[in-house]
Order: sequence, then structure tokens, then C-alpha cells
Amino acid sequence: MAATERGQWQSRFGFIMAAAGSAIGLGNIVFFGANAYKYGAGAFYLPYLIALFCVGIPVMVLELGLGSYTRRAFPPSLHKIAGRMGEFWGWFALISATLITMYYITILAWCLGMLLGALGPLWQPEQTLTAFKEVGKLPNPTGYFFEMISQWSTVIFVILIWAANLWVVAKGVQTIEWVNKIFLPLMWLFMGLLIVRGITLPNGLDGLYLLFTPNFEVMGNIEVWKGAFSQIFFTLSLGFGIMTAYASYLPEDADQVSNPLIISFMNCGFEFLAGIAIFTMLFSFSIVPKASTLSMTFFVIPEGIARMPGGPLLVSAFGVLFFVLLLLAGITSSVSLVEGLASALIDKFSSSRGALVRVFAAVGCLGSVAFALPLIVDPSLASNGTLGLTLIDLVDHWAFGYGLLIGGLMECILVGWVFGAKRLREHINIHARIKLPALFDLLIKWVIPAVLLFIIGSSAWQELKGIYGHDFVIQGFQPWLPWLCFAIFAAGGAILALVLTLAKDYHQPLQTEEEQSA
Ligand code: ALA
Repeated sequence: MAATERGQWQSRFGFIMAAAGSAIGLGNIVFFGANAYKYGAGAFYLPYLIALFCVGIPVMVLELGLGSYTRRAFPPSLHKIAGRMGEFWGWFALISATLITMYYITILAWCLGMLLGALGPLWQPEQTLTAFKEVGKLPNPTGYFFEMISQWSTVIFVILIWAANLWVVAKGVQTIEWVNKIFLPLMWLFMGLLIVRGITLPNGLDGLYLLFTPNFEVMGNIEVWKGAFSQIFFTLSLGFGIMTAYASYLPEDADQVSNPLIISFMNCGFEFLAGIAIFTMLFSFSIVPKASTLSMTFFVIPEGIARMPGGPLLVSAFGVLFFVLLLLAGITSSVSLVEGLASALIDKFSSSRGALVRVFAAVGCLGSVAFALPLIVDPSLASNGTLGLTLIDLVDHWAFGYGLLIGGLMECILVGWVFGAKRLREHINIHARIKLPALFDLLIKWVIPAVLLFIIGSSAWQELKGIYGHDFVIQGFQPWLPWLCFAIFAAGGAILALVLTLAKDYHQPLQTEEEQSA
């Protein structure tokens, strides 16, 4: 299959916008703020920056370099450099990514529900809520959110968000490119408005003090490091196979040193600004976020918006702005998640893009509906309210907490030890204006695998102390549901990855254009 049949970016600018659009998502706007707060605000920055420079940027270089070397999606790229074993790990990473895509889209569907609510009842003080015993005592955004997710009508929002993804991905990379070219500038504009509002609130600037005051006491806590590494993988869209697929649509002479640097700095700059917007607002209203990314998205920030001065119209305007921002950023990321798997299936089965994407979207939509299940399993809201929310918590624990890091570990081992980090570096350097130093080989072969192995190993050891380290309230589903989610992630992922690896040989030769013409 020629590169042009697979699709090709129209310009380098378009590629950078698409890759940055993939990276900038919910992870930047809310998950970063929630994780930073959870791990001690200023205390999070040092592990975060170490993770960015020692792991994030080198792995971004690796994933983009791999894509431009093989001109294929993630599993066939790993097949090319490391045979079937490599391909197996490629599929395993993509299955993990698919689980994340499913609940990512459910979260976007809830953002859509909150956006509609932001036009009216989300901010009203009256409680007309009946779903949960305790919900009437909660602030209205919280009550509104739980009321919304306990209704089957949210399934419609899930279908709408999947339809949007299907439409963009089925049309191909050039449509992905123009969607990002429109959405990305809007995201920066909306974030700018939120920052101006945050820092002009009374005492808002003091929130920056909290965000940037380092706390070295928590550095010895392995969970802080795991949080920082998982956040870096997630926010840069690494370990999902996306960057390799996106780089495969570039011409062979793309500069894969400057591209990853631009994308990483754009992403982390946006994240940094989002942290400022959120911390200034929370500090101004003395709101203490709970240690959950979803609570940050759906009640902590909305509660801050609800308290903004200026009257109901301005509150609604900022509420709408916030949820539109989440939807724009989330859709450019979810499109890339879907494209990561779609491109792998297209390369493997040589079928038409439209047909494959439709099948994948149908399966993915069913998964997202599972995460939107409105059945109430915890009426007192001691942990999660609905079955869908509980499933997100359980699956996220494995797919986000382990899947991404395992994917990153395996790609470093396969490139570093089987293919050769030096070989990839030499290939990347042919077209790079700033040359990659030999330090890259050391990081890919030794440092990153050692760090990731240590983090994954010590976290897994903690799991043995109790399932997931805390108890869930899941009426009628305990204790088997947490184990089922683990089995789906580990055994299901491994079996499916094996089946996909063995399903079919690659129809097209897995050679680079250089090798074919040699
Ligand atoms: N990188 C994407 C995000 O941060 C997945 O949301």
C-alpha cells in the first residue's frame, strides 16, 4: 500500500497541529490539576519535569522516529523491528488504549451533558434531585452531575460523541488535520480567557503560590512518581501508538527531533497554563479539590465557576466556555485514539478505512455505553455512584496506571535491545537539523526501562496489600467485579493481542521505501 493510499498530512504545520491536538486533552485541562493537587501541588512539579525530560521527550522521539522509519502504524512498526513478539506488544498497548478510549469518550459524553446543563439548571441552587440519598446535600454541580449520570439518556450523548469521532476518522487524515487546525487555536483562546478570569479573581494569584511551592517531603513516595510518569505518558499521548501512526503519514524526510520537541513543549505549556487557571480559581474560592480527576472535572471546577462574581449570565458563559473547551480538546484527542487503532487495523487487514472504522466505532460505542451504565451501586456516594463510574475507576486503574507504562517499557526494550537504539537514532539524525546525542541510546536502553520497571514492580507489589489499595462500595458486584476488570485487562488483552498478531500475515512488505528501492 503506498503512503498516499494510507493518507498523508498536507503540511508539516497540519501534522504538528494534529499531534498537539492529540496530546492536549482532558489530561491537560483537568487531570493535571487534579494530580498536582493530589500529590501536593508544588511537590508534583519536580517529578513531572524529570518525567518529561528523561522519559516523555525521548519516548516521543522514539515513537515518531519509529513511524517515519517504518511508515506503518504501531503494531506493524514493532513487527518490522522485532518480529511477531514486537507486534504482540504493539497490539497489547493498543488494546489498553482502546479501553481508555472507551471511557474517555464516556467522559466526553458527560461533558456534553454538563454543557447542556451549563445553559441552565447546572447553576440553580434548588435541589430537585432524587437519585441518591445524600445528593440533596451536595453543591448543585455535584448534584446535577450525579442526577445526569443516573439516567439512561446519557447513552445518547455517548452515541453522539462516537458519531463525531467516526465521521472525522472515517474521512481520513486530512479531515483530522483540518479539524485540529480549527479546534487548536480555539482551545488556546478559551484557555486564555479562563486564565485572565482566574488571575483577576480576588486572591487568585495566591493560588500560584500553592502551585509552585515545592515540597520535597513527598519525593520519597513511589505513588507520586507513578502519578508523574503516568501523567506524562497520558498527556503526551504516549504508549497509545498514536504518535507512530501520525508520523507514518509524514514524508520520509520529516525532522523527528524538532517535531517531538515542538509537540511536547506545546502540550506541557498548555498544561502549565491550565494549572494556573484552575489553581487561581480554586484558591480564590477556598475550594479544596478531592483527589479524583473526575470530581475535578465535574464538580470542583464547576463549583468554582458557579461562585464567580458578575451574575448568572457570566457564570453561564464561563460554564459553557469551560465545557466547550473540554469537548474541543477531548475530541481532538479521542479522534487520535481512534485513529491509532484504525490505522493498525487498516495496515493489518488492508481493508477500506470506512468499513473498519465503522466496525471499530460500533464495538467502541458498546464499551463506552458500559462505562455510562446508570445503575446505582452506591446510594450513599461513599466511593462511586453508578455502575458505569465504578467501572471507569476499576478499568482506569489498570489501563491508565499500568497499561501505558507497560506499553512504554516494552517499546523501549524492543527498540533499545532488539532493533538498536543507535540504529534508530542514526535514522532519525539523517533528516534532523539538531542531531540526537548518544544520550538517547542510554535513556532508551537503560534509564527508561529501569525506571518504568521499578515503578510498575513496586506498584504491583502494593496491590498485593489489598485489591486496588482501597475498598469499593459496589452493591451486588463485590468482590468479583474488580477481579473481572483485572482479568479483562490482563488475560483478555493478552489473548486478543495474540489473536490479532497471528490472524494474518502482512499483505504488504514491511519494508521501508529505502529498503525497497535498495
Ligand atoms: N493526551 C490526551 C489527553 O491529555 C489523551 O487527554
